[in-house]
Amino acid sequence: MKAGIKVFAPASVANVACGFDILGFALDKPGDEIIARPSDLPGLSIARITGDEKRLPYEIERNTAGFAAYTLMQHLDCLDQGIELEIHKKMPFGSGLGSSAASAAGAVVAVNELLGRPLTRRELLPFAVLGEQVADGAYHADNVAPSLIGGIVLIRDNATLDFHRIPVPKGLIALVIYPHIKILTKDARDVIAEHVSLQSMIVQTGNIAGLVLGLIRSDFELISRSLHDDVIENQRSSLIPFFYDVKEAALKAGALGCSISGAGPSIFAMFNKSDSAEQAGEVMKQIFSTNGISSDVFISNINHDGTVVY
Ligand code: HSE
Repeated sequence: MKAGIKVFAPASVANVACGFDILGFALDKPGDEIIARPSDLPGLSIARITGDEKRLPYEIERNTAGFAAYTLMQHLDCLDQGIELEIHKKMPFGSGLGSSAASAAGAVVAVNELLGRPLTRRELLPFAVLGEQVADGAYHADNVAPSLIGGIVLIRDNATLDFHRIPVPKGLIALVIYPHIKILTKDARDVIAEHVSLQSMIVQTGNIAGLVLGLIRSDFELISRSLHDDVIENQRSSLIPFFYDVKEAALKAGALGCSISGAGPSIFAMFNKSDSAEQAGEVMKQIFSTNGISSDVFISNINHDGTVVY
């Protein structure tokens, strides 16, 4: 077997309460592993997928990692070269952890590296977003961008991919709890009403502006006052059993804020004290388990590296 490039692409939390489709951050763990290596067959192929319970397609145009890498190779006009991918899913999909985005980000980084790094990390974003679009049909970078470049990322405009990293306050900790139920992003997008009232628009824009300012100033009180979602959370919460009980437990344990991670069912909370995060994780998990739902808790700093080549 020829030598290849192996990368780790991290999970991410999209929306971050008030930033629907425009804000996301990367976690240290979990994440996917992608390998790209030269192949004797011209073009791109997927040689192996593990950790997916045989649910992901091998067809390039139906696979987020495959399609992302394919559009990159097409752009670079190198589809006459042979490259094969291995996709090792190390996190659940349909979880709200940005699983398809991680695979797409990992694939473009691995292929770009194998080709001698013709594009910068930021230039890879459009191809990764096209890959993720295969999974939910929408073009938004709030999972892919943090998974690719790390940090907390604001996408000012998804159409033109005008995206910017926001400073991360020292001591900011993220908790994500993944209850073992599946919600497909597409389904979670279908429940959202087309229109937002003027009053909600005012509240939501105030909160997103406050959150960004709070992050820039390392002002945890402002972050906490701003970490609210006045538009999407109440529409999606019915898809997540015991959502409000779990949220209340997180806030009681000292969370700065708590909301749905991406399209759910995962729930995220932010903290500035690690013991509060640990305590919150236990009580949040307890609420799900007493109601017969198993869950995984991930406590992580904000990941500043994004996808890394090992
Ligand atoms: N912003 C997206 C959503 C993230 O909430 O639908 C999930 O892909």
